[in-house]
This record gives sequence, C-alpha cells and structure tokens, in this order.
Amino acid sequence: VITLHCRPPGERPTEILVGDGAAASLPARAARRSVFALVDERAAAAAAALVDPGWTALRVPAGEDLKTLSRAEAVLRAMAGAGLDRTSLLVAIGGGTVSDLGGLCAALFLRGIEFWVVPTTLLAMVDSAVGGKNAVNLPEGKNLVGTVHPPALVAADPALLSGLPPAELRSGLAEAIKVAIGLDAALFERLETEAAAIQQGQAAALLPVVHRCLAAKVAVVAADLREDGPRRLLNLGHTLGHALEARAGGALPHGLAVARGLHFALDVAADLRAIAPADADRCRRLLAAYGHARDPLPPLAELLPFLRRDKKVAGQAIAFVVPTGIGRSDVRTMPLRELERRLQAQTAASEAPGGT
Ligand SMILES: NC(=O)c1ccc[n+]([C@@H]2O[C@H](COP(=O)([O-])OP(=O)(O)OC[C@H]3O[C@@H](n4cnc5c(N)ncnc54)[C@H](O)[C@@H]3O)[C@@H](O)[C@H]2O)c1
Repeated sequence: VITLHCRPPGERPTEILVGDGAAASLPARAARRSVFALVDERAAAAAAALVDPGWTALRVPAGEDLKTLSRAEAVLRAMAGAGLDRTSLLVAIGGGTVSDLGGLCAALFLRGIEFWVVPTTLLAMVDSAVGGKNAVNLPEGKNLVGTVHPPALVAADPALLSGLPPAELRSGLAEAIKVAIGLDAALFERLETEAAAIQQGQAAALLPVVHRCLAAKVAVVAADLREDGPRRLLNLGHTLGHALEARAGGALPHGLAVARGLHFALDVAADLRAIAPADADRCRRLLAAYGHARDPLPPLAELLPFLRRDKKVAGQAIAFVVPTGIGRSDVRTMPLRELERRLQAQTAASEAPGGT
C-alpha cells in the first residue's frame, strides 16, 4: 500500500492509502470512536469486511437522486439519532454521489466532524474522493450547494472495483483520460499501451492508473484547495460535460459527459491553435480507444441554462480549460458568447447529414 499526503496550506491534511487492502486498517484506526458509515447499497457486499459491527451503518441508493438537501437532512437526523459527538467520524463508502453527500453531512453536523472516504467506483477513486469538495444538487443545476471539507483519510483499493458495471468503469476511465490529457503525459502513454487490461478492469492494471491520477490531483489540490489557480485545470472537459450531465438529469454518467466535453475542448484548442494537430489527434484516438465517441450534441437551447449557471462563469466570461499538448493544459478566459457560438457551430455540424 502506497501512502500519499495532500497538505493544502492552512487546511486539514488528507492521508491517502492506495493499493491492495488499503481499507483493511480502517476499523483499527477508528477504534474507540463512534463511527457513522454511509454505505452505497450496491457496494455493501464488497465493503462488508470494512464495516466494523460497532459502527452505525446507513445504506443508501447511489445516484444523482441521492444528492439533495432532503437526503442530507435525513442523513443528519440519522447521525443525531446515533448520538454522534464532535469526536465522531463519518465514513463514506461508495461512489462520488455517496461521498459528496457524506462530505456535506460531515461538514454540517456540529459544524464539522472528521470525514473518511472509501471510494468504490473508479471515478471516485481517481477524482472525487480527494480534494474536499462536496455538494448536492438543486433543480436549477448540479452541485449548487456544498462546502469544502477535506477528508482526513482516503483508502483507495482497486480490488473493491471488481463488481463495478462496465459502464461505470468506462465513466471513471474518462476522468483518468482527462488527467492524462491535461496533466500527465506518462499516464497518457500508459493508457495507450495498457488499454486492453485497463478496460477489462484488472486490478493490477488499474492500480498505477489510480495512483497517478491521485498523485496529479494531490499536486494541484495542495497548491490550490479553493480552485483559484492550477486546480481549475481539473475542469478540463467539464464545461460542456456538466451541462450535458445536468440536462440529462442523472441519466448520463459523469465520466461519459466529461468525455464528450473533452472532445469539445480539443476542438476549441485546435481551432485556437493552442494544441498541435498531431497531439489533438492522438488525444482523440485515446478517447475513441476507450469507447468515447464525439457524439452529436443536443440543441444549444437545452444546454444554455446550465452553461450560464456553471461555477466557472464570472460575469460574461468563463474560465475554459484547453489542452495544449499531451499532459499539458491551460485556462483561457472566454466570453460566454464565444462559447455559445462554438457550441452552436458544433450542434449545427452534428445535425448535418453524416457530419458527426
Ligand atoms: N466532489 C468532487 O470533487 C467530485 C469530483 C468528481 C465527481 N463528483 C461527483 O461524483 C458523482 C459521480 O460519481 P460516481 O460516478 O462514482 O457515481 P455514483 O456514486 O452514482 O456511482 C455509480 C454507480 O456505481 C454503483 N456502485 C458503486 N460502487 C460499486 C461497486 N463497488 N460495485 C458495483 N456497483 C457500484 C453505484 O451504486 C451507482 O449505481 C457525481 O455526482 C459528480 O458530481 C464529485
């Protein structure tokens, strides 16, 4: 098991355990504390050995429907009912929706108790478990209500992914591709050369992918927890991605939406001559190799309400991340009108006969 540390200045540090059996030490580490475990019901069987019989465990159905203020209230009431105090801790065992809800509840209960995460989806392992952001959705948009409450401990064990449905694996791999394109050329090469074993979900093949993604995330989060600087690079593919995801109302897995957003970001970068054509093509080939096509876009009018509420919008402009090479990216300030014009062109192009 490898240990990483994320230490944003002035903030609570996160210890990250990565590898086979990474979560096995949790019950011993939590000894003598009252523990509230929020457990994804689909991951419950895989995670059974991690949940100490002395903990209060609440099983929940994962998915975007879980990320609501009324669900948060139900969890907070269960925490109060379990008699938790300020020394207690909340452990989220599940994918990104469970850890987003769990992180918010840990941040709010008694103005903040300790939070641990055991990610059980690849997406949560490579992305959402680390970084401290949590949020629930409003009908007006995704992730509109949340806090920054970094977990004290994250235990990422790829063996927990063995029962993950292939679509969820593909969704998580899209986030790994995002990290590879935007931040990590060595990961990019690994994703190219090991594509078959990685896509089969072999734990041994996934482990270095998880490790590199976590290391990349730790580096940017430690430098910029509040997302004013380099952390914004993690939003590569997420401008269009979040709008597609919000429009689909939970029917489109996060990573698949991000993958479509990556195609768009590559198109924008190529158009701005921010990336060499050969590099852009290599990125497109990697996306295609992992089953992420440049699918037709829905009409712009259906995306606009979500694009305009994007957290990256400031005034009439948006901080848009463009890939600038293999493992490199940059933040550009783009007027919203320009973004809309570029999307409009794509929507029209994707509706033209044969023009995907
Ligand atoms: N806070 C952050 O920094 C951050 C970053 C990225 C994404 N997110 C959020 O994460 C969410 C997406 O996370 P996700 O893709 O993990 O979704 P999810 O939590 O809905 O999990 C996806 C599916 O996998 C199932 N599942 C989980 N573990 C399993 C296992 N071991 N075996 C079988 N099935 C299992 C779940 O029940 C669910 O059906 C989105 O809401 C997104 O906004 C947050």
